[in-house]
Amino acid sequence: MRIGVLTGGGDCPGLNAVIRSVVRSSDNLFGSSVVGFRDGWRGLLEDRAMELDVTKADGILTRGGTILGSARVNPEVFRDGLETVRETLRARGVDVLIPIGGEGTLTAASWLADNGVPVVGVPKTIDNDIDGTDLTFGFDTAVSIATDAIDRLHTTAESHQRVLLCEVMGRHAGWIALHAGLASGAHLTLVPEQPFDVDEVCAMVSARFARGDQHFIAVVAEGATPKEGSMEFRVGGIDEFGHRRFTGVAQQLGEEIERRIGKEVRTTVLGHVQRGGTPTAFDRVLATRFGLHAAIAAHEGRTGQMVALRGTDITLIPLADATKHLKTVTPERLAEVVSFFG
Ligand code: F6P
Repeated sequence: MRIGVLTGGGDCPGLNAVIRSVVRSSDNLFGSSVVGFRDGWRGLLEDRAMELDVTKADGILTRGGTILGSARVNPEVFRDGLETVRETLRARGVDVLIPIGGEGTLTAASWLADNGVPVVGVPKTIDNDIDGTDLTFGFDTAVSIATDAIDRLHTTAESHQRVLLCEVMGRHAGWIALHAGLASGAHLTLVPEQPFDVDEVCAMVSARFARGDQHFIAVVAEGATPKEGSMEFRVGGIDEFGHRRFTGVAQQLGEEIERRIGKEVRTTVLGHVQRGGTPTAFDRVLATRFGLHAAIAAHEGRTGQMVALRGTDITLIPLADATKHLKTVTPERLAEVVSFFG
C-alpha cells in the first residue's frame, strides 16, 4: 500500500511528529511507502510532492513547524479541483491520504471522503477547538509558552504596580486563555465565548488595587469582544475564509482601562510565538499516537474517519461528525475559572 500525507492550515508544534509516526509505522508494520504533498492542499492540486522514507523522518520528532510546509487554501478553489486531486493521487499511486489539519483542512477532507476519496484525518490546532477529540496536539505547547510568558509578566507588573494584559491566540475558542490563565494565576481571563463588560473589568482592577494588591494580570483571547455598547471597538474585518481578522482587542481594552480609571496599563501580544518551536513531551506523545493510529486505520481500510483522543484512548470518529461545529469553552468550564478572578 502507499500512503499520502499533507499538513494544512496554520502550523502547529507536533506536525513533524505525526509525519514521522506515519512514515515509521507504515514502513515497520506494513512495509508501505509514504509520499508527502507540499504546502497543504495546494501541493496536491499542483502535484508538488516528496518521497518520505524513514531517513527523511529521522530527527524531526522534536522539530516545530512542518517539513512539508503548510498553507491555507480557499475552499472554493479546492472544490473546483476534485478531478485534479483524483488524478494526482492516481499518478502518485496513493491508496489512502492522511491530511493533518484543523477545521478547514478536515472539512475539505470530509468533503473528499464524501466524494469517494479514501482519507483518514488527523486533527491539529493549538486552539484545541476541534470537536470529537478531547485534545489536539500543539495545545499543550501553546499553553506552556503562554504560561511561561504570563509568569514573567507577574513580576514586572508587580515592580511597577501596573495592569498587564496578555493577548493569546484563540479566534473562536478561549481554551488557551482559559488554561494559561489558570496555570499562571491570572486575575481575569477573557474568552470569545463570553463578551466582557468594560465597567466590570475596571471595577475588578480598581478593587484589587484598593485592597493593597500591587498588580493585575488579565489574559485576553484574541477573539474576546466587549459587550454591545460597553466600549467603542474597532473590529478588524473578515478574511477570505470568513474568519475574523486580528483586532488587537487587548490593546484597545488597555487604552480604555487607562482612560477610565487612570491605572498604568501595558499590553503584550504573544502571537505566533505560541505556534513555534519544539513541542512539549505531551504533544509529541499525542502526535505520535495519532500518526500511528491513522496509519493503522488507513491500512485496515477504515477511511472517512478522523483519529481522536477520548480519555486516554485513541479512537476513530466519522470526519463529518468532527467538522459540524467547533468545540468552544463551555459555561461550566468558564464558571470554574471565574472562581479565581479578582
Ligand atoms: O487557527 C490557529 C491560529 O493559531 C489562531 O489561533 C490564530 O488566530 C490564527 O491561527 C493565525 O493565523 P495566521 O497564521 O494565518 O495568521
